[in-house]
Amino acid sequence: MRRSKTPLYSEMKKYVDSKPIPFHMPGHKLGAGFTDEFRKNMATYDLTEIPGLDNLHYPEEIILEAQKLAAEAFGADNSFFLVNGSTVGILATIFTVCKAGDSLIVARDCHKSVTNGMIMAGVNPIYIKPSFNNEFGISIGISGTAVLDALINNPEAVGVLLTRPNYYGCCCDIKEIAEIVHKHGRILIVDEAHGAHLHFNNNLPLDAIMGGADICVQSAHKTLPALTQAALLHVKGDRINIDKLKFYLSTFQTSSPSYIIMASLDIARATMESHGKEMLERLLENVISLKRRLKSIKKIKILSGEGQMDFEIDQTRIVINVKELGITGFLAEKILRESFNIQIEMSDLYNIVCIATIADEEENFEKLYRGIEEIASRFKNGKPLADIYNVELLIPRQVVSLRDTLLCSSKSVKFEDALNKVSLNTITPYPPGIPIICPGEEISEETYNFISKILRAGGKVNGIGNTGEINIIA
Ligand SMILES: Cc1ncc(COP(=O)(O)O)c(C=O)c1O
Repeated sequence: MRRSKTPLYSEMKKYVDSKPIPFHMPGHKLGAGFTDEFRKNMATYDLTEIPGLDNLHYPEEIILEAQKLAAEAFGADNSFFLVNGSTVGILATIFTVCKAGDSLIVARDCHKSVTNGMIMAGVNPIYIKPSFNNEFGISIGISGTAVLDALINNPEAVGVLLTRPNYYGCCCDIKEIAEIVHKHGRILIVDEAHGAHLHFNNNLPLDAIMGGADICVQSAHKTLPALTQAALLHVKGDRINIDKLKFYLSTFQTSSPSYIIMASLDIARATMESHGKEMLERLLENVISLKRRLKSIKKIKILSGEGQMDFEIDQTRIVINVKELGITGFLAEKILRESFNIQIEMSDLYNIVCIATIADEEENFEKLYRGIEEIASRFKNGKPLADIYNVELLIPRQVVSLRDTLLCSSKSVKFEDALNKVSLNTITPYPPGIPIICPGEEISEETYNFISKILRAGGKVNGIGNTGEINIIA
C-alpha cells in the first residue's frame, strides 16, 4: 500500500481534476495556452543533446537561432534561455556585474534570489527604500530621486538593481531611472520576473530593455504561456561582459536542460511576436472591464494606479483590496477556493492578487466577479480592518556582512526572545511582501514592534516558522 502511494502526483491530479479556475502562474493556465499538439506530445519532446538538437551550454545551431529570434522579438542585443527560472539569471547577473567586495545599490523590495546572489558573490548591498501605498499596504516602487541620492552617496557602487514590475504590478519610471544610472556611468539591472509580457503591447508599461536597462531577467512562466522554470535573460548595449555572463549561466544552470522548457520559450516567443499585441489587447479589455465592475461593489477597492500613486501599473495584474469588509485577503482567498473553485495567485492581510494572462478564458473573469460580489455581500456589515501601515519602511543596522553570515553559527529562538539579536535569515511579512530584516541585520525594537504588529493582525511572516521560531546568529 505504502509503496504504491504517490502523494505529490495524487494531490496534483486531484487539483487539476477539480477543474479549478486558475488565476495563478504558470501563465499557460493549466495548458490552455499551448496548442493541442504540444500539450499532447510534451513527454515525447523530453529530449536531450542528440545530433541536430544543439546544446544550451554551447549553442551553435537551433538553440542559437531560437535565442537570436528571442533577442529580436524583445528588442535585445543578446538573449539567453533559462531553465531554472529568473533565479538563475539573477545569480549569474550579480556574479557578472560584481566581484567580491563590490557594492550594489539594491531596491529593498528585492526577491530572495537577489539576497542569496549577494551572499554568495560577497557583494555589499546599499539598500534603497521603495515608496509605500498605505491603503493597500504595499510597496509601489523606487523613485528616481531615491536612485540619484544612492548614487551620489555611494560613488563606489557598481550598479543599481531594481524589481519592476513588483508582485502587485507596480512599475516605477524605468526611463528616468535608466538615464540617472547611465549618467553616473553605472549598470542598470532589472528583475523583470513579472513583466515578460510588457514588451508586446503599447498599452502596458514600457519594458525594461526598451526603457534603457542594461540587463534584465523575465520569468516567462509567470506571464506568458510557458512552462514553469522557463525564463529569459536579455542584454542591451555594451556594459555587460557577455563572456563572463555565459560562464556564470553555464555554471549555475543544470547540464541537462529540459528541451520541453526551452521549446515552450521558443513557442511563447513566436506566439507573442505573431499575435501578442491582439491577444494582450483582448486580455486588457477583459481585465479593465472586470476592474470597472469590481470597483462599483461597495467596500471593494481595486489597485488601478489612478490617483493612488505616481507609478504606472501593469493592468493585467488584478489586486483586490477587501480590508473594508473586515476580512483578510487570506480569508477571501480561502472562500474563493472553497466556494467558487477559483484559485488565486497570492493573498496578504488586505489584498488578493490574481495573475491574468493571454491564456485565460473570458468566462473566468465573470466567475471571478461573481465570487467577489458574493464575498462582498456576505461581509457587507463587517468592520474595516485596522490600518497597520503608516510607517516608513525601516532598514535595520547591518551587524554582520551578508557574506559573513555564511560563516556564523546559528540557533533557533522564539521570536519574542529575538529582540536586539542578529537574524541569520530574511524575515518578510505579508504585507508588504518585502524583507523587513535581511541576513546579518539587527532585530531592533522598531523592527521587532513592526513584525509583532503584523503577526497580531493575522499577517504571515516568512522567516518565522510555524513554531514561532527564528534563526539568529549565536
Ligand atoms: C520579483 C521576483 N524576482 C525573481 C523571482 C524568481 O523567479 P523564478 O521563480 O522564475 O526563479 C520571483 C519569483 O517569484 C519574483 O517574484
